[in-house]
Amino acid sequence: MNILVVGGGGREHALVWKLKQSPLCHSIACAPGNAGIGRLAELVPIRAEAVEEQVQFAAEKRFDLVVIGPEAPLAAGLADALRAKDIRVFGPSQKAARIESSKIFARRLMEKYGIPSPAYQAFENPEAAKSFVRELAFQGKHCVVKADGLAAGKGAIVTSSTEEADAAIEQCLIRQAFGEAGRRIVVEERLTGPEVSILAITDGRRLVILPPAQDHKPIGEGDTGPNTGGMGAYSPVPLVTEDLLETIRRTVLEPAVRGMEAEGAPYTGVLYAGLMICGGRPYVIEFNCRFGDPETQAVLPALDEDLLPYLLNAAEGTLHQDQILDPRQSSVCVIMASGGYPGAYEKGKVISGLEAAEAETEGVLVFHSGTQWKDGRLLTAGGRVLGITGQGRDFQQACQRAYAAVEKIHFEKAYYRRDIGFRVCKR
Ligand code: AMP
Ligand code: GLY
Repeated sequence: MNILVVGGGGREHALVWKLKQSPLCHSIACAPGNAGIGRLAELVPIRAEAVEEQVQFAAEKRFDLVVIGPEAPLAAGLADALRAKDIRVFGPSQKAARIESSKIFARRLMEKYGIPSPAYQAFENPEAAKSFVRELAFQGKHCVVKADGLAAGKGAIVTSSTEEADAAIEQCLIRQAFGEAGRRIVVEERLTGPEVSILAITDGRRLVILPPAQDHKPIGEGDTGPNTGGMGAYSPVPLVTEDLLETIRRTVLEPAVRGMEAEGAPYTGVLYAGLMICGGRPYVIEFNCRFGDPETQAVLPALDEDLLPYLLNAAEGTLHQDQILDPRQSSVCVIMASGGYPGAYEKGKVISGLEAAEAETEGVLVFHSGTQWKDGRLLTAGGRVLGITGQGRDFQQACQRAYAAVEKIHFEKAYYRRDIGFRVCKR
């Protein structure tokens, strides 16, 4: 098969790395990819969101399967446009991608189909939103204010007082900090508990659940400071027992997939459930319509199975059975970012030590996010730059391997958290 992967981050690097190992894979291209992906796949200089150009290119080259990585092209209808040209595609339709691209749509779906989730209401009017904040406060609850639309992982503001909540509401609805995406908001009850990410491949009916992962979203050690796209992840998650995973399947994943079908938006692709475990029970914080990043950089290395047949069967609507895929080993992914991220940061810093990191450390994979070749040098080109995944028989070993490699890699103002995986191992 000739495969096209759309996107150019660490998630896509991990996907390309995994798909390329499949005996079914003949060739693989990636649009636009990045410097690391370029070592495995042909790079095509088309932006992920450039729907028309992507479709034109895919039709011209007659790919057997297109795998869409990021949410933006899915929300823009890339999967629909490809299917209209009879190109096989792994990823939900624009309508189904609303499970991520509209938090109001997602919360209504959860409400209608009885999927456990926090109390919420949707608003356009700031005064009405503030009065709901007070209603929650009266019940002793804090709240989270979320832009309805896509905001690159930065659209959720977790608050600890009515003043903070009011400020968040004004930031979205009056000062329009998230533009059109924040014209409507969700105000919801703030829950507390550990978070897990569950990725399930689905053809609209059957579910193949990948090993659970935990993401470290905040920039600072001990999970403090502002949220980022993710500073690291590990897989599997000891907290997610077989029983809990079964509950997640029964109370979250199955009703979501059935609900989407009932709403006239059958869901195929990866359904990502971001969950909080409260009192031993799973509550949905968010759904995403794609593989998680950095979770995918930890999950795929932990997996033994060939991924390609699952993606293919999901795209064709022919998954044979519900399945839970067991991890082969433990993995820990540490993100190296540009200093300043998730705020302003500089690009174009020379990256050194990669070869040593890959060659001298056992059980390590280096995935690229924001990197670029220029004049024979490897340069930083984004906020998140590299994802270093250590694999091992346990988390201790996986973590040691990841950090041994991280310490060999250098670029000016590199920043990484030194405590990724702190809930499952010590450094
Ligand atoms: P989201 O963009 O919806 O994934 O939210 C980003 C992060 O904000 C989540 O990973 C949580 O850490 C936090 N968060 C979102 N919603 C809630 C909630 N209802 N209660 C507590 N924390 C939340
Ligand atoms: N790591 C969080 C996400 O992919 O949305």
